[in-house]
Amino acid sequence: MIIIGISFSHNGSVCLLKDGKVIVAIQAERLTRVKRQALDLDKNQTALNLCLDYCLSYSKVKIEDIDYIAFSTPWALKDLKEKCIEWINGISPKKRISVKSVSHHLAHAEYIIHYGNNENGTVCVIDGSGSYGNEIKKNDYNDLEDIYKNNDNHKLGYTKETVSIYKYKQNKLSAKFKVLSSNTKVIDFTDNIRSYFHSIGHIWEIVSNLIFQNGNQAGKVMGLIGFNKEKIEKKFLEFDRDFKPIINVDFLNTEIKKIKAKKNKPTDISFLADIIQKDTNDYVISLINKFISEKDKAIYLSGGVMLNIKLNTEIAKNFPNKKIIINGSTEDNGTSIGAASAIFRKLQKRNITENPTDYYGKKYTYEEVEKSLIEKELNFKVLNNDDLSEFIANEIVNSKVIMLSYGRSEFGPRALGHRSILANAFDPLTKSKLDTEIKLREPYRPYAPIVLENDYEKYFDLKFKSPFMLFDSKVLNNKLPAITHVDGTSRPQTVNRDNGIVYDILLKIKKIKGIPVCLNTSLNRPGEPICEKPDDAINYALNSEADYLVIENFLVNLSKN
Ligand SMILES: [Fe+2]
Repeated sequence: MIIIGISFSHNGSVCLLKDGKVIVAIQAERLTRVKRQALDLDKNQTALNLCLDYCLSYSKVKIEDIDYIAFSTPWALKDLKEKCIEWINGISPKKRISVKSVSHHLAHAEYIIHYGNNENGTVCVIDGSGSYGNEIKKNDYNDLEDIYKNNDNHKLGYTKETVSIYKYKQNKLSAKFKVLSSNTKVIDFTDNIRSYFHSIGHIWEIVSNLIFQNGNQAGKVMGLIGFNKEKIEKKFLEFDRDFKPIINVDFLNTEIKKIKAKKNKPTDISFLADIIQKDTNDYVISLINKFISEKDKAIYLSGGVMLNIKLNTEIAKNFPNKKIIINGSTEDNGTSIGAASAIFRKLQKRNITENPTDYYGKKYTYEEVEKSLIEKELNFKVLNNDDLSEFIANEIVNSKVIMLSYGRSEFGPRALGHRSILANAFDPLTKSKLDTEIKLREPYRPYAPIVLENDYEKYFDLKFKSPFMLFDSKVLNNKLPAITHVDGTSRPQTVNRDNGIVYDILLKIKKIKGIPVCLNTSLNRPGEPICEKPDDAINYALNSEADYLVIENFLVNLSKN
């Protein structure tokens, strides 16, 4: 059975599921080169077709082989299903393909249970906002009568799901709790009155707007944690006994007016990051405590808020006896996989599980890479894996910067060593070189390390493997200045043989330095999506101060080109 999953969202994505297994998945932004490329059927059909073609050609599947389209959206459904039927059948003249929709939080939940090895547990989904309240019931599992009995459909149409708790037990997912949040009005930095939902995701958006005049910089807000030295008792977010998050609008608007009166640098108002992080941790830990049971073996985490490494680390600390299950695409791109998995499980009435991974993109062939390099008239060498990893390790230790595109591209927002920039973690000058010459980033933002899975405990205070860079930890070694944040923490990715050439590179760095650690940051300019194709990497490399570009086994010395 072949199902195409689609996330119609600001993190638009498409995946192909064959007999319950993810064969390929791609975010639209990687192909259109527009950061946070939305997918919808009114304005972005070309982007959608690009993603579909990518998945079909990778899988060698023809359009008439597709059995179902499964989609999820955090936007109003309106006539999306009808438009989707029209779209797919317009390009599939030989066969009529059936289209199914899955409510948004359910798709987030199904995404993560896909990777849980069928462990019984509590599933926690938190994002900005998901499906509208009046559009959930017909899609979601129907255990939510309590929520619906006191609400008429008209009122529900003004609410959106912002927090959901599901139980996963004996292969059955059932909804236990859902917050349907209403709107609130907040003054934004440019003096508009804007509508937000009372949600964790939206309070991060507001604070991101307040500090950076851009609502999509939650990661940068997190980077400010550790700069503030004052004790802060204020709260932006509270919750009542029903666990409804409530944005403290009066306090927030007072702070916005105060901050607007001065021209503050982000580090001068870093206390805002501390407040919002503490509020988020307090809410989520209390919520999980309320719903977790002794019998649960696992806590499954999904939704955009779960990209918050400080929160994830706090959850892991608070529930040391539960297995934390999380994968690299917790934000909306993951809902294409979630929607497709939900429909597969429902139709086939059987469960599926796969090992967590985020390498769902394409690996480019020798011919494709060679063609791109020749077109740009670049000189290159082709090395075997052993020589290539040895060369890269030596050059990293010599403080050279390597741009690396190797293997299947990552699906989510983290570069996990397949579309990465690698640099010397031991050199105190590495960070400023990357900030000013290559990544063009603000000096307060930290860089993350990769470390061999067998050795991480010697260098990081991490209690478990972290293959998707979704937890932080104290750095235990003072020889790693380039990857140690101002508060002494770091966000390591633990690496094993399955991660490809970065594993070999770390083995060789270990031989030279005794410590298998390297700085790893994403292969993209600020404001651009991570590189996907060889041409994307070449264009970036040629306009940067990096020393080498490596695409598969091709080595390009950038100073000689
Ligand atoms: Fe979402």
